[in-house]
Formats: sequence, structure tokens, C-alpha cells
Amino acid sequence: MRILFGLALALIAGLPAPAGAGDPIRIGVVLPFSGVYAALGGDITDGMMLAFETFGDTVAGRRIELIREDSEVKPSVGLTKTKKLVYQDQVDLLVGPVASNVAGAMRDFVHNAEIPLIVPNAGNNLLTGERCSPWVIRTSFSNDQINRGMGGWLFDKGYRSLYLLAADYAAGHQMMAAVKRSFTAAGGAIVGEEYPPLRETKDFAPYLAKIKAAKPDAMYVFFAGGPAIQFVKQVHDFGLKKEIALTGAGWLTSPLFLPAEGAAAVGFTGALNYVPSIDSDENRQFQNAFQEKHGRVGSEFTVQGYDTARLIVEALEITGGATDDKAALVAAMHQVSFTGPRGPLRIDPATNNVIQDIYVFETRQVGYAVKQVVIDKMEAVQDPPNGCRMEVGRG
Ligand code: PHB
Repeated sequence: MRILFGLALALIAGLPAPAGAGDPIRIGVVLPFSGVYAALGGDITDGMMLAFETFGDTVAGRRIELIREDSEVKPSVGLTKTKKLVYQDQVDLLVGPVASNVAGAMRDFVHNAEIPLIVPNAGNNLLTGERCSPWVIRTSFSNDQINRGMGGWLFDKGYRSLYLLAADYAAGHQMMAAVKRSFTAAGGAIVGEEYPPLRETKDFAPYLAKIKAAKPDAMYVFFAGGPAIQFVKQVHDFGLKKEIALTGAGWLTSPLFLPAEGAAAVGFTGALNYVPSIDSDENRQFQNAFQEKHGRVGSEFTVQGYDTARLIVEALEITGGATDDKAALVAAMHQVSFTGPRGPLRIDPATNNVIQDIYVFETRQVGYAVKQVVIDKMEAVQDPPNGCRMEVGRG
């Protein structure tokens, strides 16, 4: 009767009906399945599927269902697909996106709709900083979190001048701002910076010529997806690494791109929240299971998908499978903490950003394979609030 009453009320109000005990739990997935970041969306999805197999795809009799939409790395497309998932498919929660610009476009809608959005990649600082929301939880990283430690680290290693090069959108600018701040605070100089367009740049030669002429100690770069592969090959062919160290945000030589990059990736130094060579039982178990299923190495994107799905399952176990009380669902996510393939992980309730270890690695030739070898680790890296005031209902 209460359910019927709720249903009638919901129909009158045009709101989604409250979920019954046996109803599936619907997760709307907004990821790029086409465009420059298509491979990243695929890896995150594969990671989520493995986690549901490992940690359970049914909670309190409710099966977890994924409804996938392609955001194409286009902000307006990401927002439209998000609205479709909420209004038409009436999803219980959302997972996505990959790109910071798409995340920026989705933020206000998700905030006002009060539907939990678990971000499995996009690092846009604002989402867990100035524009934080009780409904936006990030399991991946912030752009600042990955990069801000590297300015001091590179200075300590003897580098005194950097040239910055990154894709021209929110993520590229935020990552370069983070390393610029910490490198100049340590006493280093930024001798140049360029931001090639994200989707259109295929030829990096004009940028490489400028970097060569500027003669910095190192370049610090951010590229991912197709552009990372093209950039790594072109730097190698240009012979630039002999004169200028190649450093940057670690996605440049992700295991997802390494098969295409091959030996051209050797010599890169980067920072990242996961590399496959992490020496732990949790990581070995994950890699064994993933490689057995997919015949390829699990990447940081796979791990972010895997940990996202695990967080969701464990939070649902706390709520007894209930999804109608969204605040209770988010509160449950704050209670979850575990050691996954990347190490210990929990969500900071002050910002809703993940607290995690950051690894510094070198991409080396190890026997016949090219691998990311860990050379340093920054433990439990936690973002400052960065202007976040977590109040329900703030616009
Ligand atoms: C982002 O847009 O936030 C982004 C995209 C790809 C990455 C990292 C960050 O590899």
C-alpha cells in the first residue's frame, strides 16, 4: 500500500517512483566510447564489470544494471546523455565522465537533480573544490592532486627550467598550473608553455621545434588517448629526449597506450595514482584476474573503474540495497574504505575527492617489455578544500 501510495504520488509529481525491493539498481554510465578518449571509456567499463563479478552484482536481491551512453568527449553531448539517463531511464546513480570539460558541463544538472555522480576519471579541480557538491564523489584524482607534488620533486632532482605542453582544455590548464605553482615556489623557472587543441592536433612538430629552441632542462606534458601516442612517437623521432628530459602527468605512457608507443615511451618520468608494477597482493590479484579475462595489462583507467564499482557495491551493502535516500547512499560511500590495486583509498567527506597514494615512475625497457617502474611514492595525498563548502542545496 505504501508503495502504491508512493507510486501515485510520484506519478502526480512526475517524479521517479521509489524503487521496490526486487527492482534492479540502475547505474547510468556516461563515458566516451568514441573520439580521442574512447579507449579510456572502454577500460573504465571493463574495470567496473570485473569488480561486479568479483564483489557481487546483486545487493539485497536487487541486480545492478548498467545503462551506457557515449559522451564523445563533448560537453553538450555529455550533458544531454546525463539528462536522458535521469529523466528517461530513471537511473539511481550516475558514473562518469572521463574528461574535465564534460564533467564541468554535467555538474550543475547533477547537483540540482540530487543524483549521486561517481567520477571515475575526470580530474576537473572545481568539482571537488569551488564547485563541489554533496552529490559529486570522485574516485579517480583531481588534476591538482596528480601534478602538484611534481614541481618540488623535479626541482629536488636538479631540474631548474621547465617547458609546459598540454591539451588545450580545463584538464591541461589545471595540471600545468599545479606544476607551475610548485616548481616556481621551489625556485625553478617556466621558460615556455603551449596548449595544442585537444581534438585536432595530430602534428606536434611545430611545438617540438619551439621546445628545442627554448632549451629547458625538461618538458612537462599532459596528453592522454590518441594524442599521447602521437606525441610520444613524434618526440622520439625528433630525437628530443637526448637533450631535454621528458616528464609529466603519467597518463602519457599508460599501459593502455604502451602497446602502440613501444620503445618510443622509454625515458619518460611521470606521476600517477596507479601503475601495474605496484608490489602488493591486491594488485597482483587484480592484474591476474584482468589479464586472464582480457589478455592485456589493466591500466589506471581500469583500476579507477574497478574501485568505483567496488565503492558502489560496498555502499549499497551498507544501505541494504536502498537507493531512494540519496543522502544515505552518499553517507555510506563516506564510510567505505579499502586497499585496492592502487593502495589504500577513501573518500574525503570535506571535498568528496579520493585520498590516495601518488606514484612517481620511470618508463623503462625491462627485458623485452616496456614498463612503468616505480621510483618514488607520495603517501595519502589529500587535496585541501580549495574553496569547497559542502552544503546541501548550494547552487
Ligand atoms: C581529464 O579531462 O580530466 C582527463 C582526461 C584524461 C586523462 C586524465 C584527465 O588521462
